[in-house]
Amino acid sequence: MGLHTALTRLRSQVLLWLKGPSALKNPVVFLALYDADPEGLIEAVMRLYGSNRDYTSHYVHQLVRHHRANPLITLYLESEMGGLGRARQFLDALAGSFDRPNPFRGKRCLDVGANAGQTLLAFCERGARAAVGVEIDQARYETARMNLDGVRGEGCQLEVYNNDILNGGFIRTLSTFDVIFCLDVIEHVQNPRLLVHHLSSLLAKEPEGFIYLKVGNPFCYKNVLAEPHYQIPGLVLLPHELAKVYYEASCPHDGLNYSVEAWHSFFGYEGMFRDEGLQCRPLYDCHIYQKDLDRYLRLVEPILVKLSAFCESKQIAPGLRHEVEAHVRGYLAELVAVFDRYRATGDPALDRLIWLKYFPVDSELIVSRHSE
Ligand SMILES: C[S@@+](CC[C@H](N)C(=O)[O-])C[C@H]1O[C@@H](n2cnc3c(N)ncnc32)[C@H](O)[C@@H]1O
Repeated sequence: MGLHTALTRLRSQVLLWLKGPSALKNPVVFLALYDADPEGLIEAVMRLYGSNRDYTSHYVHQLVRHHRANPLITLYLESEMGGLGRARQFLDALAGSFDRPNPFRGKRCLDVGANAGQTLLAFCERGARAAVGVEIDQARYETARMNLDGVRGEGCQLEVYNNDILNGGFIRTLSTFDVIFCLDVIEHVQNPRLLVHHLSSLLAKEPEGFIYLKVGNPFCYKNVLAEPHYQIPGLVLLPHELAKVYYEASCPHDGLNYSVEAWHSFFGYEGMFRDEGLQCRPLYDCHIYQKDLDRYLRLVEPILVKLSAFCESKQIAPGLRHEVEAHVRGYLAELVAVFDRYRATGDPALDRLIWLKYFPVDSELIVSRHSE
């Protein structure tokens, strides 16, 4: 190793030591560390997230190769590598919403859109009998294989398939599951009804079986201000074709394709499951008070100004800008009208509608064959 390389490495080690995990959150620092000492950076990522070497090294090199110019690069790192920690938290939080201590122990669990297989690991850790993943994307599937490689399931059958959850032939080869997770996937598929139909057909008949569906809520002010995947204002409210045009006009990072097909509210997905004869409850329930409405209106207020500044900065054509604005104005008008009606009547049906349609950043549904 030459003196220059050794000094560069030493400098990056010191920077990592000084800045700690925050060095991995800043794209400029992250890339500088990678360029100076990729192995040192990979070590730091492994330490921070407790991940194995092959998987971490594979992921970090791929990330830099494909997203070097993307300002969201460290967001992607956190989203991927923080997956196991989040999956553990999810499972524990979810367990708290059931009247039995561990709804995963001894169960056959399926994760649809398994990505790097983090949730499968968390299922195993909680004593699942089987943890099966389905992942359509070849690269993600391979990453999952790498992540699961060498993991001894301790009596848990670990399996991941590279397949499409909309593929009926494949679905018919699977047995049923007691627990089915489908997190942040349904907005990406062309036919959400078919996905719901397949999830329903894969759910075991046992009374304790459930599906947990999580999906970004397009009517939450936070997602309207910044769409969850691309951080673009107003995008989440648009129908697919218009969203694609607006996304492409907004100079997407690294030329990534627009990957969302359609967003629905809690009630949209609830209706799809009802048509399959299944019952839904929200993971969290809540009551809305006057002060919540006032606070919400203050939070949603900057949307038109933010949209206008964004369109200005991206030089969005006036016609397209007006179309996007019209959707945002329509959203605001509907929201204000519903809030006013609730203020005037205190109708409990509106309480439920406002909570589930406008408040959660994600819609989280627990779906079962029987009402709990
Ligand atoms: C936004 S990621 C969410 C990953 C994971 N469920 C989580 O919550 O961290 C969506 C995942 O679903 C996968 N996916 C999308 N459409 C799919 C399909 N039709 N069948 C199986 N997987 C799919 C994607 O490749 C991706 O890994």
